[in-house]
Amino acid sequence: MTKVLIGTVKPFAPKAVEQMKEIFSNAGYEVALLEKYQEQSELVNAVKDVDALIVRSDKVTREVIENADNLKIIVRGGAGYDNVDLEAATAKDVVVMNTPGQNSNAVAELALGMMVYLARNEFNGTAGTELKGKKLGIHAFGNVGKYVARIAKGFGMIPYAFDPFIAKDEIENEGVKALDSQDDLYSKCQYISLHIPANEKTKKSINYELLSKMPEKAVLVNTARKEVVHEDDLLKMFAQRSDFKYISDIAPDCASEIEEKYAGRFFFTPKKMGAQTAEANINAGIAAANQIINYLEKGDTQFKVN
Ligand code: 3PG
Repeated sequence: MTKVLIGTVKPFAPKAVEQMKEIFSNAGYEVALLEKYQEQSELVNAVKDVDALIVRSDKVTREVIENADNLKIIVRGGAGYDNVDLEAATAKDVVVMNTPGQNSNAVAELALGMMVYLARNEFNGTAGTELKGKKLGIHAFGNVGKYVARIAKGFGMIPYAFDPFIAKDEIENEGVKALDSQDDLYSKCQYISLHIPANEKTKKSINYELLSKMPEKAVLVNTARKEVVHEDDLLKMFAQRSDFKYISDIAPDCASEIEEKYAGRFFFTPKKMGAQTAEANINAGIAAANQIINYLEKGDTQFKVN
């Protein structure tokens, strides 16, 4: 019997798990559930006899992959697959997929929600500012970037975007001004919302050179990955620009220094929660389940990333 492991430190919402189990049971597959595990070794042991693995931000290391004797497919229920060792998977002929777009609205809503929270001084009752009329630079115009643009327009923000991989027309069809370079985006926009993936090229790429171009009352919003921000340069920005604020879905490694010195100028979620909605979990979970069945039964590799 084909066996699937759902291995998630941060579990999918119960409704999502229920629906995934139903899809697999209809296909005649067996499902094992490993949630909220404490040690990486638990994941390593649990994959031993599975044919397919579904994860979220869980670390699918070489050790996990090499210990999974029957593994044929890994689906990351979500967008970013920087947590999966693609090289190790490819070397073992294991297909890796993500579920693009399935949790994008949830991430976009959080980005705007956090902007409102900080613009309103953490809801402390003092006079804050509004998002209306402010320029928003969307750094990468993939699924999340598109949703951010749509919601931001509802707030009356003026959206710009830079994405070297997307045709300018596609960006401008969404009513967003497409710019030619990162430098243009950062120079023009008071708010910057990051939607780039974390890879060898982008890690630490959001540096002082870029950030220092931002106009007065600059706010950097990061619902992408903490690794894309150059943290020494982030601290330099905080020190040099008393108008600079940073919002991040998950605290940076240098959080304690920021928390100690720069009250009121940051907000960090305690746990990565951009995709933490029932809707996003259901969308991503169902997509992951269907993608596994479609691959194992029909060889469909539509969402393959390796
Ligand atoms: C993603 O890449 O899809 C998001 O960062 C969500 O990650 P999560 O599934 O760990 O919440």
